[in-house]
Amino acid sequence: MAAPENACIMKEHESLWIFLCILIQLVQGKDSECISSNKCSCYKSNEFEYQCPPGKFKIVLHVIPRQYVKIDCYDLPEYDLSIFPDVDVGDLEYFQMRFCPLPNNSFNPTLDKFNISNIKYMQLEEIRTTTIKTVTKELFNGLSKLEKLSFSLFRIELEDDFLENLPNLIQLYLDNNEIHQLENNMFYYTPRLRILHLSRNLISHQLHLWRNELTSLSKYSFTGLRQLKSLELSSNKINSLDEDTFAELIELVNISLRSNNLNVITSNIFKRNIALEGVRIGNNPNLNLSDYVFANLTNLTNVNIDNSNLESLPQHIFEGSFNILDISIKNNSIKELPENIFKNLEKLKKLNLNGNKISSLPNAIFSSLRSLEELYIGDNNLTEINEKLFKNTANLRILNLRYNNIATIHLNAFIGLRKLLTLDLSYNQYDLKYGDNVEGLNPFSYCEELQRLNLSHNAIDMFPESFMDNKVNLRYFDLDYNKINDLRVASLIKVSTYEVIVYLNNNNISVLDFRDIKIYPIFNPNNYDALHNNDSSTVLYMSQNPISCDCFNFDLIQYVNDKLDPVIKTLVDIRLGNLHCSTPEAFDQILVRDLKPRHITCPLENMGCPKQCGCDFRPYDNCAVVDCSYRNLTNAPVINMTINNVKQVEVNLEGNELENAPYTGLGYDNVTNLFLSNNHIKKLSWIPPKIKVLRLDRNQLTFIESKVLNSLNESTTLQNLTLYQNPWSCGCSTVGLQNYLRNHYKKVNPNEVKCEDDKLLIDRKELCKSHWTIALAIATPILLVVCATAIAVALYFYYQEEIKVWLYAKNLCLWFVTEEELDKDKTYDIFISYSHKDEEFVIQNLLPVLEAGPNPFKICIHVRDWVPGEFIATQVTNSVLDSRRTLVILSESFLESVWGKMEFRTAHTQAINEGRARVIVVKYGQLNEEKLDNELKNVP
Ligand SMILES: *[C@@H]1O[C@H](CO)[C@@H](O)[C@H](O)[C@H]1NC(C)=O
Ligand SMILES: *[C@@H]1O[C@H](CO)[C@@H](O)[C@H](O)[C@H]1NC(C)=O
Ligand SMILES: *[C@@H]1O[C@H](CO)[C@@H](O)[C@H](O)[C@H]1NC(C)=O
Ligand SMILES: *[C@@H]1O[C@H](CO)[C@@H](O)[C@H](O)[C@H]1NC(C)=O
Ligand SMILES: *[C@@H]1O[C@H](CO)[C@@H](O)[C@H](O)[C@H]1NC(C)=O
Ligand SMILES: *[C@@H]1O[C@H](CO)[C@@H](O)[C@H](O)[C@H]1NC(C)=O
Repeated sequence: MAAPENACIMKEHESLWIFLCILIQLVQGKDSECISSNKCSCYKSNEFEYQCPPGKFKIVLHVIPRQYVKIDCYDLPEYDLSIFPDVDVGDLEYFQMRFCPLPNNSFNPTLDKFNISNIKYMQLEEIRTTTIKTVTKELFNGLSKLEKLSFSLFRIELEDDFLENLPNLIQLYLDNNEIHQLENNMFYYTPRLRILHLSRNLISHQLHLWRNELTSLSKYSFTGLRQLKSLELSSNKINSLDEDTFAELIELVNISLRSNNLNVITSNIFKRNIALEGVRIGNNPNLNLSDYVFANLTNLTNVNIDNSNLESLPQHIFEGSFNILDISIKNNSIKELPENIFKNLEKLKKLNLNGNKISSLPNAIFSSLRSLEELYIGDNNLTEINEKLFKNTANLRILNLRYNNIATIHLNAFIGLRKLLTLDLSYNQYDLKYGDNVEGLNPFSYCEELQRLNLSHNAIDMFPESFMDNKVNLRYFDLDYNKINDLRVASLIKVSTYEVIVYLNNNNISVLDFRDIKIYPIFNPNNYDALHNNDSSTVLYMSQNPISCDCFNFDLIQYVNDKLDPVIKTLVDIRLGNLHCSTPEAFDQILVRDLKPRHITCPLENMGCPKQCGCDFRPYDNCAVVDCSYRNLTNAPVINMTINNVKQVEVNLEGNELENAPYTGLGYDNVTNLFLSNNHIKKLSWIPPKIKVLRLDRNQLTFIESKVLNSLNESTTLQNLTLYQNPWSCGCSTVGLQNYLRNHYKKVNPNEVKCEDDKLLIDRKELCKSHWTIALAIATPILLVVCATAIAVALYFYYQEEIKVWLYAKNLCLWFVTEEELDKDKTYDIFISYSHKDEEFVIQNLLPVLEAGPNPFKICIHVRDWVPGEFIATQVTNSVLDSRRTLVILSESFLESVWGKMEFRTAHTQAINEGRARVIVVKYGQLNEEKLDNELKNVP
């Protein structure tokens, strides 16, 4: 036993370290030492990890004492025990070494160093060869308890007797090396060997070691190998085997010879291997099997002869091996099989014949296979299935017939397959048709248990509705890539209690008919139970079909948008995937699931559509749509269509050159939706009485006539009106519109209706105020002037005289008033004012002169013309006022007369007021100048 020399390295002046070190050793005990030294550093986790030398990675050891040692080497040129750490690990289950060179002689010193006496399993991977070129028996000295040895990625030779020191070896894995040859007595010392793996080597010779043993060697070799149970020789280059190659391996259970280059396999090769259960000879491209190869191997259960270009199989190849459960002969080139090849294989459960060239099979070939559960004949060249082939395979669960050319299946072909669960008939030419009776009859009716039926990639052109009724257990029904045209959704409702997935992708379905299913939930209230049973619906996948996105599929679009009775969805769950519209052109490449019911239309033909327009029926709102948008129209077309049974009429005139909105008499009376956006409309004189949606945005409207506004106001049908992007004048003419906006902001978005100056009409306060003020500002003075004038005129006419007189008096506007005019109302021309003492002179001399002549003056004199009884003062004033002139006979006596003076004064005052000479003074007799009043003096 190697002492842990460096466990505690004493260093001067480090007494504390020594103390701690001892303490640690005491506490930890020996087994759990993880002490770093100058040789290796040790890290402890759930295992010890030694890195040697410290800091470098020449070797790394992972250790759990009494469990394992794993050594990884890094660039270690030769095996050098001195750099290994000193650890005591005891006996081991597992010893692993990777990327290391081999020890020079033996593992013995290594075992000693680590105090190992027994190892059970040693694994040596990727040995780095430097000096050692061969593995000798000495290498394994001291490993007599080893039971399992695994080498891989070696490039070394094995000496013939390299196993001599491993008497207890049970499993030997030599896969993935470069072993060229196995020597004759190599396994002589390993009598307990059960498993020998030699796959992926370079063995290219005949494997004839056993035969040689038999003939030339002792019975040791016989006994040494007779317990071998598993022999793995795959992926070598073995090309031929002698007849008795495996003759000694009488306990051999599994043998694999896959991926070699085997040629002829003779009849007796496994004759002695009566314990054989599994034989794998696949992947030998030149294989040629003799008859009876697998015969009489009563323990044989699995035979695999895949991928070996076999063109035929001999008739008795499995004879007497009646316990075979699984035979795979797939991917060969077999064209036909003997009728009796599977005879008596009554226990056979699985038979794989996929990938051959079988074009027909003998009627009775499967007749013994009562236990057969899985049968694969896919990827062959079968053209028909007759009624006899599967008559006796009553336990068949899976039948695979995909990738054949099957066009005909006898109606009773599957009559015996009552337990069939899965049937794959995909990639054939089958059309499900039987004479005239297309629907209802099918060969699957007997397969009561059928759960999965794959009929994809066939030639079926009609959905087999009866299947949904017959197949109570059906859960998966694949009809992808057929030619199915139309589909009644109701026919997808099935009776079973399981969810059925129906695939109808890549068919020719253009219309999904919902008619029946729409009434289904109604007349069959029991189906409401489906609501509570989520398992019981049919799921339909149907992408890649030429779906018409028109009225015929309106129900589908409604379904997609959850607009149908929700019960329908619980009955049939349609998954559209990327299904897109194939018609109409406008919807090309549009996903059906993105369509809304309102998008769906059908052309209205021969209904009198205006010739410039397109007319459609839109089931969504039961609407006839007349589309005249963007047609460069300058006038709204006359609508004269015979449309019955529609609730609405939509006329789209968007994007034309209209200047006038449609008016009454053009046949728009029944229009409910009228789109006039983006025209040049300036005038709107009428709206259709049943209008619901009216779009007038992007036009040239400046106001709306009050008549039209009234109609809008009174309309009980109108729901939506667009008015934006019009140059609304926002003056008095739009007051009505503003009120309308305020009252109907739900129908018209008032935040879009802007004035020419880009402000919102609705925000304008007292639209008309500014104008009134302006008007008032202008009107008031005018009015005032008019009033003033009127008053002036009235006054003038009333006070004409006075004014004229006044004007005259003030010397104003003399051009305006002539004296004649002023005096035209006067009764007298002259009032003669005189003293009664001068009466004689006046009456006798003056009066006759004045009152004679061609133009006599009218004279007023008090003695003759005054009215008796009046006050003299009044008479004087009246006479003065009624006369154009006052003639004063100024005499001594006049000056003395009180009345004379008064008359004079009155006339004078009058004359002064009027501003003109009214008083004519005639001096009569001698006058005393001093006596003259100031007034009299002033008279001109
Ligand atoms: C065949 O298998 C049975 C059951 O596993 C076994 O008892 C019998 O020993 C086997 N036959 C041979 C020859 O190994
Ligand atoms: C298989 O066994 C039967 C009966 O034991 C025998 O008659 C037949 O010859 C055997 N076949 C071969 C190839 O050994
Ligand atoms: C399959 O059979 C048809 C005739 O039935 C034949 O023409 C064709 O060559 C066959 N194909 C193969 C791969 O054997
Ligand atoms: C409308 O007029 C424009 C320009 O003249 C022209 O390009 C366009 O094709 C016309 N459209 C129709 C539908 O006639
Ligand atoms: C409207 O159409 C009918 C026939 O469809 C026709 O007889 C009638 O003259 C048309 N009226 C107008 C105004 O075009
Ligand atoms: C409007 O509809 C009524 C009733 O459907 C019909 O009698 C009338 O002729 C229609 N008017 C126009 C202009 O189409």
